[in-house]
Amino acid sequence: MNKVVIYGAGPYGKIFLSEVNRYGIIDIAGFTVDMAFLKEEKIEGLPVVPFEEVDKIYPPRQYDMIVVCGYTRMRNRKEMYDKAKGKGYTLINYISPGAYLENEIRMGDNNIIFSGSEIGYDGKMGSGNIVRQNVYLGHEFLMGSHNIISVGCIIGGYSRISDLSFFGFSVTSSGFKNFGKECLVGMRSVVTRDVEDYATVYGSPAKVASYHEDTGVVIKEKAGKGEGSDE
Ligand SMILES: CC(C)(COP(=O)(O)OP(=O)(O)OC[C@H]1O[C@@H](n2cnc3c(N)ncnc32)[C@H](O)[C@@H]1OP(=O)(O)O)[C@@H](O)C(=O)NCCC(=O)NCCS
Repeated sequence: MNKVVIYGAGPYGKIFLSEVNRYGIIDIAGFTVDMAFLKEEKIEGLPVVPFEEVDKIYPPRQYDMIVVCGYTRMRNRKEMYDKAKGKGYTLINYISPGAYLENEIRMGDNNIIFSGSEIGYDGKMGSGNIVRQNVYLGHEFLMGSHNIISVGCIIGGYSRISDLSFFGFSVTSSGFKNFGKECLVGMRSVVTRDVEDYATVYGSPAKVASYHEDTGVVIKEKAGKGEGSDE
């Protein structure tokens, strides 16, 4: 198996590295970020190289890649995925040995399923999705691409999730729900009805708070005493 370059060195890239280090089923060569975001030369001893030069340093014939981008601006996730594909890399799927899959999921590429998650039988997902820790994703789900399902979500069987949507911490959704394109489901929402395209919903039961067709999902965590960004 080829060594893997992680595209993205923000918190999600680092969380992913720590997951990989726990189980050691893939070998990471280093990180790459767009030149404009290059801040550090090494992360945990691994080199960080400019994306503009990555194919010279880590040729796509010898190295694979995985794009790991957070949720500050969800559309960045697809843009980075397309750029990585454009350079000719094979984008790997990562399914944690600590996740439980009822059976093999039919999926595209560049999906990440973290430890502690349980994925029901006969699901199908596109590409570039992140399923964080301790998620339950019910049987026979259909998921598009570039979504993030945050830690602790419970999503009932037969759910239909489109593209580029974000589910906050601990969302609970009954089965048979449709989630439209680019929706934002706020943390701890209880979803009892379908969610429209471009809607932000939250609460119990979840209600529409706003729409964001122009920008897609953009999330700015309000600063408490912490600091940083998720990219
Ligand atoms: C949905 C969300 C994006 C809304 O953020 P926002 O637009 O900045 O909203 P605000 O914080 O200004 O809150 C507006 C109001 O809605 C309420 N509210 C916001 N999110 C809520 C939620 N998930 N459930 C219930 N009420 C919520 C706030 O309490 C506030 O009420 P108030 O006006 O009476 O004080 C945000 O709350 C959220 O869920 N973020 C995701 C966090 C997360 O899960 N991160 C995962 C990292 S992996």
